[in-house]
Amino acid sequence: MKIQSEATDSRTSRLPVDALARRLPEDGAATTTGRVDWIETYDVAVIGLGYVGLPLCLAFAKAGAIVLGVDTDTSKALHLAAGKSYIKHISDADVHTAVSDKRFTATADFSALRNAAAILICVPTPLTPNRVPDLSYVENTARAIAPHLQAGQLVVLESTTYPGTTEEIVLPILERGSGLKAGRDFHLAYSPEREDPGNPRSTLREIPKVLGGLTDACRERATEVYGRIVREVVPVSSCRAAEATKLMENIFRSVNIALVNELKVIYASMGIDIWEVIQAASTKPFGYMAFYPGPGLGGHCIPIDPFYLTWKALEHGQHTRLIELAGEINTSMPEYVVSRVIDALNDAGKPVRRSRILVLGLAYKANVDDDRESPTYAIMQSLEKRGAIVSYNDPHVPTIREGRSNHAVAGRASQPVTADYDAILLCTNHREYGAIDFVSLGIPLIDCRNMVTQRPPAYYPA
Ligand SMILES: NC(=O)c1ccc[n+]([C@@H]2O[C@H](COP(=O)([O-])OP(=O)(O)OC[C@H]3O[C@@H](n4cnc5c(N)ncnc54)[C@H](O)[C@@H]3O)[C@@H](O)[C@H]2O)c1
Repeated sequence: MKIQSEATDSRTSRLPVDALARRLPEDGAATTTGRVDWIETYDVAVIGLGYVGLPLCLAFAKAGAIVLGVDTDTSKALHLAAGKSYIKHISDADVHTAVSDKRFTATADFSALRNAAAILICVPTPLTPNRVPDLSYVENTARAIAPHLQAGQLVVLESTTYPGTTEEIVLPILERGSGLKAGRDFHLAYSPEREDPGNPRSTLREIPKVLGGLTDACRERATEVYGRIVREVVPVSSCRAAEATKLMENIFRSVNIALVNELKVIYASMGIDIWEVIQAASTKPFGYMAFYPGPGLGGHCIPIDPFYLTWKALEHGQHTRLIELAGEINTSMPEYVVSRVIDALNDAGKPVRRSRILVLGLAYKANVDDDRESPTYAIMQSLEKRGAIVSYNDPHVPTIREGRSNHAVAGRASQPVTADYDAILLCTNHREYGAIDFVSLGIPLIDCRNMVTQRPPAYYPA
């Protein structure tokens, strides 16, 4: 169904209702009132305008598609309508261009979905407090789509999740709420997002997109849609295979990061520098891929996604032993870092209690403003429990927004880097920190990222 190709005015994407009705299959619940009226039609609707959904909207708009963004957070639609981005690495200019060219509009009104040829779901898939998959956002979204679902439409789930979600959760909700049959009346597919935030070389167009459909026709329709914005679509045999691919990619990272984190601690006890070892091992032209240690896992994916597989595997009587062990090692890293801060203070003859500590970097990775699940919060809170007075600096996070794991420190503001501290702890290797003269500051420095080359005498790798 290519509604847009018939648009009489492609810049505003307006079609007479009867023309739209003509384009919909006869058994579909076409949006026709019998009178000739003007309505908006969209090539693509994206639900969930966050780190994944917003760039996706802009990519489609840039490729010439007419795009509808839908988010339950009404403030997002207002921001976007004003040509403003609320994500640091997405520029106002890009949003403004897409909006003023009338290629992108955002709304909280799900009824507009009935006029979209394809509906892509990019809503959160977090964990509950008991660390089990929380699919409520996906379920609520499917429920909100269902009454507006039209014959001929394509629905694609992009949210990261366990194998089976598209067919076991999304499909029945859509069918029940719409009276339509997946694979016959509407297309259904799963295609995970691959993002490398903060890396300008990793563009959406250049990152191959894995895609599985409920039927061959579903996969082909989804391939057609994504073919507008990515150079390569990688088809797989089913939605399950595509869901499993995404989890495998993230679990691969989690396990390998756990390995270097474990080796970091072991080698440190032997007086060996893990960073030097990684650099040397990286010269092997085959069979080795470098992963780097750090203060623990962060971000919306790597710390969370393995739990999705662990939960689902149990249903099949399987245990994810290696995956869980990797999780344990990675979640123990903040305490290891705290022990290194204690070492540094101890060597200076200071107790942790009432020591002033400046933490550099809240974001979970360099040069981004994403602080979700950041291990820095665990470190700050652990130090404060021991009586330390902890401040932070992060040029990308001027104030701490309330999140799932940072209640104790939410609302605080970034502080300048000065000599008024008993220790500085570098958690994130933001490029701005390359300009700090740690030698002149003369304060013990604990470095989780091997970032600092001009090192003060009291330097502690962590
Ligand atoms: N951030 C990444 O780098 C990344 C990379 C790959 C995959 N993913 C996956 O993509 C999915 C989305 O992640 P994100 O980082 O974009 O999340 P996000 O929190 O940045 O954005 C999600 C958006 O969905 C909106 N939302 C929530 N419930 C909704 C509903 N019922 N209807 C409409 N909108 C709703 C929220 O208001 C928010 O704007 C997750 O499954 C995540 O695991 C994220």
